[in-house]
Amino acid sequence: MQEKILSFLKRRQDYVSGDQISHRLGITRQALWKHIQELKEAGYDIVAVPHLGYQLKSIPDRLFAFEVSGDLNTKFIGRKIYYFDGLSSTMALAMQLGIKGAPEGTLVLAESQTKGKGRLGRNWFSPKYKGIYLSLLLKPKILPCSSASVLTLLAAVSICEAIKEITGLDARIKWPNDILIGHKKLGGILTELNAEMDEVNFVIIGIGLNVNNDKKTLVSAATSLREQKKENISRISLLQEILRKIETNYLLFQVKGAQSIIDKWRDYSITLGRRVKVYYHKEHIEGEALDIDADGGLLVRKDSGVTAKVMAGDVIHCR
Ligand code: BTN
Repeated sequence: MQEKILSFLKRRQDYVSGDQISHRLGITRQALWKHIQELKEAGYDIVAVPHLGYQLKSIPDRLFAFEVSGDLNTKFIGRKIYYFDGLSSTMALAMQLGIKGAPEGTLVLAESQTKGKGRLGRNWFSPKYKGIYLSLLLKPKILPCSSASVLTLLAAVSICEAIKEITGLDARIKWPNDILIGHKKLGGILTELNAEMDEVNFVIIGIGLNVNNDKKTLVSAATSLREQKKENISRISLLQEILRKIETNYLLFQVKGAQSIIDKWRDYSITLGRRVKVYYHKEHIEGEALDIDADGGLLVRKDSGVTAKVMAGDVIHCR
């Protein structure tokens, strides 16, 4: 009912009389008043003026499922959304939903996470209402070895495209899947797989992005879109654009194959062509980052002339 009231108020933009709304929606004036109070508590700025009625002045910066899906216009990405004000990790819930047979494109969103998971066993700091924290369920029809990394590259490209579209900022990708602006980290991607030996059941793409964090909630190596733009960014618009870009790139990938995504990824990469050190646990290798291969592995030419392929790790750009 609250969704219906909101879409009524959004369509009309001007004042609408309580009689008209309650008549159209088949509820009493008292029930309407109660719903309006609840919407106000959720952050919707709705004014009531005697003899004129109700007017929606502004909507809160919350990623409510019906606000996200409203004018999303995707075919399957984000058609089913699970929204939480707080959650331990969106990854864990998306994994459970996948096991229970949730459809492709199912999205789990949280306004904050208490146990946000980063790559290589790290934590992902997820302060409330500041960022975008999501897990997306995909069911690609490809082999386990190649699928996860290509989908990670696909997500990274989609995020950069969406950031450009919404903010005009140039985000870049540091291998494997750090989203950077300048030299500072803006976001990351964590991909988890549920697979048999020869078949992928589903993949969960986890995305964490610093959007409206102010400087004091960021470590020195991190940044946020707000810090870069010096203004708040609409998390809803950015999230919707990320979902649209993921769907477009996923369809491209299904029709044209992994190479089409890898080509786009190269354009956003700030790692290729540079001298790098790649750390994995206590080991590291050093050399020139030549390219990525079809599995998303980084090809590094060592000083000995031998080329090594690295599948995971942290890259330091030497120059
Ligand atoms: C990285 O380490 O760079 C990847 C971070 C991925 C964080 C996101 S936030 C939403 C989703 N849920 C999690 O617990 N982790 C991912």
